Amino acid sequence: RHPVIIDTDPGQDDAFAILLALGAPQLKVLGLTTVAGNMGLTQTTDNARRIVELAGRGDLPVHAGAPRPLLRKPRPVPEIHGDTGIDGWDWAPARQGPAEGHAVDFLIETVMQHPEPVTLVALGPQTNIAMALRREPRMADRLARIVFMGGGYFEGGNMSPAAEYNILVDPEAARIVLGAGVPVTAVPLDCTHAAPAPVNWSARLAAHGSQVMLACAGMMEFFERYGNEKYQTQSRPLHDAVAVAALLWPDLFTGRLCPVDVECAGELTTGMTVVDWLRQTGQPDNCLWLNGCTDPAELYARIEKALLNLPIGA
Ligand code: BDR
Ligand code: CA
Repeated sequence: RHPVIIDTDPGQDDAFAILLALGAPQLKVLGLTTVAGNMGLTQTTDNARRIVELAGRGDLPVHAGAPRPLLRKPRPVPEIHGDTGIDGWDWAPARQGPAEGHAVDFLIETVMQHPEPVTLVALGPQTNIAMALRREPRMADRLARIVFMGGGYFEGGNMSPAAEYNILVDPEAARIVLGAGVPVTAVPLDCTHAAPAPVNWSARLAAHGSQVMLACAGMMEFFERYGNEKYQTQSRPLHDAVAVAALLWPDLFTGRLCPVDVECAGELTTGMTVVDWLRQTGQPDNCLWLNGCTDPAELYARIEKALLNLPIGA
């Protein structure tokens, strides 16, 4: 099983991504690290605990990381994710707090000491990962890959015309990550917007009846309500879950290896991921940029099947 650490700011779509990774037999989740993003750090950390406990994996360490981006102010988005960040389900309070030790130390120690190369899955602003790579640059040679949800080029942004949320919140961090010499897979809006969940997927999930599936159905309904209004659609993609899916099932995605950088000083374009799709800059190829999903129905069927591997819960 492939070892992964999930860096996250839950977020309903983060919750789906975490549950998917825990249900997928191909992955071995070594732990979670949390970051300020959709909510403040205390809330995202508590949310991550609730999610692993719901999945029957309270044994997993959740390490709290950066309470704010490297240079910029935090930008919580309760208007998208609700007051808790994972609204839509009546969550049991977390039985346990975060594990001792800072997320950055956990990332470095685990990656440097694990016998096999570890993959980092980044589902929020990339502050923790950038800090870890600066603190221990030799991580770059030990990592298998970094898969991140973030950015958008052909689709533009979702927080400004040019910028997607995770990159806009900490553009400097994303720039450090893309420049660190680690193989990177980007799962941007170009890819997630091509992978909307099936219409009424939440009803299908609820029909399974377990606590996990009822929680997923409730979160999906909440998440869609906001999205469908903003985008005038009938169904929305679960961005972060698509990132884990891209790691699990590359056969369902299209993309291209090319040079990618982040605009950190634009008047109108700060946080934009600048993708050299036609390789015009002569810069080294540093990122596999995913731009499509070949079969969204199959993708969500596989996600649903993996979620069914989780314990049915109390
Ligand atoms: C990303 O922004 C967050 O709100 C979601 O959790 C996801 O990681 C989508 O742009
Ligand atoms: Ca997220």
